[in-house]
Amino acid sequence: MNPQPLITTTEAVDKAFYVIFGISGVSLLGITVAMIYIIWRYNRKRQPQPVSQKDHNIWLETTWIIIPTILVGIMFWYGWEGYLSLRRIPDNAIPIQGSSRMWSWLFTYENGKTSDKLYVPVGQPVNIRLSSEDVLHSFYVPAFRVKRDCVPGMETYAWFVAEEPGSYDLFCAEYCGVAHSSMITTVEAISPAEFAGWLAEKPAVVDAGQELLQKHGCLGCHSLDGSAMVGPSFQGISGRQVSVVSNGRTVALTTDRTYLEKAILEPDDEIVEGYPPAMPPYAGRIPDEDLSGILDYLMGLKK
Ligand code: CUA
Repeated sequence: MNPQPLITTTEAVDKAFYVIFGISGVSLLGITVAMIYIIWRYNRKRQPQPVSQKDHNIWLETTWIIIPTILVGIMFWYGWEGYLSLRRIPDNAIPIQGSSRMWSWLFTYENGKTSDKLYVPVGQPVNIRLSSEDVLHSFYVPAFRVKRDCVPGMETYAWFVAEEPGSYDLFCAEYCGVAHSSMITTVEAISPAEFAGWLAEKPAVVDAGQELLQKHGCLGCHSLDGSAMVGPSFQGISGRQVSVVSNGRTVALTTDRTYLEKAILEPDDEIVEGYPPAMPPYAGRIPDEDLSGILDYLMGLKK
């Protein structure tokens, strides 16, 4: 096979889009003009009697079969070419794992570094290997014209290359539950030098606890600064007076380690009043040491 020059996903999709849009636009214009002309020309007042009794014309019929067939063939060709470009990963693409779960993204780079925003070097293709920990999600970056489902139990992929530095929206495009609409992050395209630097830099050990919260996707729904998201904020969560709904009854309690542990493992048993029963149970999904690390961290959080 010949070496393929790199066609970006944006170029591949846009070419197909403009070809189809152009053919549709010309057809719309042509058909509308012909229709208006015929309405005018063969109006009953202007043309009281039919001038012809012909009921078919072989050449006309052949023409209107052949021309649309060619047009549809052209649209198919560009669509197919574009699709192949999206599916053909360039050899030098950097692999990055993209994990999705209700309701956040986690990206893991070759050296094991993780982030919730997707960092990519400008001008270098990246191949995002997509997986889901729970339900269907969809990796969608409009700026690069890529959208691919994340399917539990299998790996899918999407590749793209960012040609300009910048911050680009990254959405979940498959309805995945209560906080689907907040499953948003960004693609941060930075220069290759900055990217290498960022990759090498040790995650400024903000806090081991915070890192665990990020790893398990907690921060997609719980803030650290007191703002309400899908779930209650973690700020000052220990020793907080709350009303919880348990078996249809409202019970007042003070949050302690036991309650928080239960709230992580079997959240539906005692949902804080005013919040949807949206959290997936973590029983069997979180290693014991991570659980106790998170509990240590939450218990120490001040107001
Ligand atoms: Cu994940 Cu919608």
